[in-house]
Amino acid sequence: MKKLPKIALGAWAWGNDGTFGGNFDAETLRPIFETAMKNGLTLWDTAYAYGMGTSEKTLASFLKGLPRESFLISDKFTPQCADAASPTAMKDMIEMQLRLMDLDRFDIYWIHNVVGAPHWTEELAKYFEGRSDAPLIGVSNHNLEEIRQADVILRAHGLKLSAVQNHYSLINRSSEESGILDYCAQNGVHFFAYMVLEQGALSGKYDPAHPMPEGSARAQTYNPILDKLAVLNAELKRLAQKYGVAPAQIPVAWAIAKGALPIIGVTKESHVLDAVKAAGVTLAAEDVCGLEKLADSLRLNVIRFWEKEMK
Ligand SMILES: NC(=O)c1ccc[n+]([C@@H]2O[C@H](COP(=O)([O-])OP(=O)(O)OC[C@H]3O[C@@H](n4cnc5c(N)ncnc54)[C@H](OP(=O)(O)O)[C@@H]3O)[C@@H](O)[C@H]2O)c1
Repeated sequence: MKKLPKIALGAWAWGNDGTFGGNFDAETLRPIFETAMKNGLTLWDTAYAYGMGTSEKTLASFLKGLPRESFLISDKFTPQCADAASPTAMKDMIEMQLRLMDLDRFDIYWIHNVVGAPHWTEELAKYFEGRSDAPLIGVSNHNLEEIRQADVILRAHGLKLSAVQNHYSLINRSSEESGILDYCAQNGVHFFAYMVLEQGALSGKYDPAHPMPEGSARAQTYNPILDKLAVLNAELKRLAQKYGVAPAQIPVAWAIAKGALPIIGVTKESHVLDAVKAAGVTLAAEDVCGLEKLADSLRLNVIRFWEKEMK
């Protein structure tokens, strides 16, 4: 497996598409980017779908002039953004994204979801077949059967599946329960966990008296369950004290303990600094187990509109 940092940073919120609330401009985000780079968090996850190029363009403006080997870019093919009627839809999308980001290659490239996935994986495989600049290829929001199928398609073109990116948190462990984590560990496939913090709901910051920003998509999902989550957030705070860290570092350390590579969405410098420290926290097995038991007892299974059960 290619050596990657322990944590990736996510730039979905940078797309300003109404999911998170607030508006994040380049001036606000630049110091966040620079702090991350200084601290060795150099792997950035984005997608054209995050604000229809807005996240990619903002990230690109920060990358300008940096040595290409000093950062890693993880970008995605979102089927819903492609012109499915075009015979060159895959090539058009990849090359448009490269132009947007002023790059000549991506380090990781994903099929973002399963809409038309076998067809798009085949197109991706044809595009990168035999190319020395082929990125690590991954699939996202795929279940185990779909993951295996993607690998078969890629192998027929001399490539292989190198990464899986799914929702994975204390309150959504379906990728673990369905065997995807084990499959990845056994087959040398990186497992990237997104929404480890449930968009902030597992950061210890929100409770019924302090809900998520009104009007944001995340508020619609999480505000109604903040009362249920209070007990889990209380435990995150207790463990944070025990380990001498911030509550938001505990779910990140938990994901790392499970063999995942968490992608943390960052919109403040403190988020980056917490992520850096979280990479150095080793949770005791009893705390990993205790957290999972408590989270399971809440009987929550947060599945977002673009997701499905990973059975
Ligand atoms: N492949 C896919 O379909 C898919 C889907 C979702 C996400 N992703 C990727 O995964 C990344 C992460 O997911 P996400 O951004 O949706 O959710 P997330 O990482 O669970 O949550 C990010 C939010 O949590 C809060 N936060 C982060 N660090 C914190 C800290 N140290 N202390 C307190 N609060 C903190 C921030 O919000 P506030 O400070 O405003 O509360 C931040 O915007 C995305 O950016 C994207 O790259 C991929």
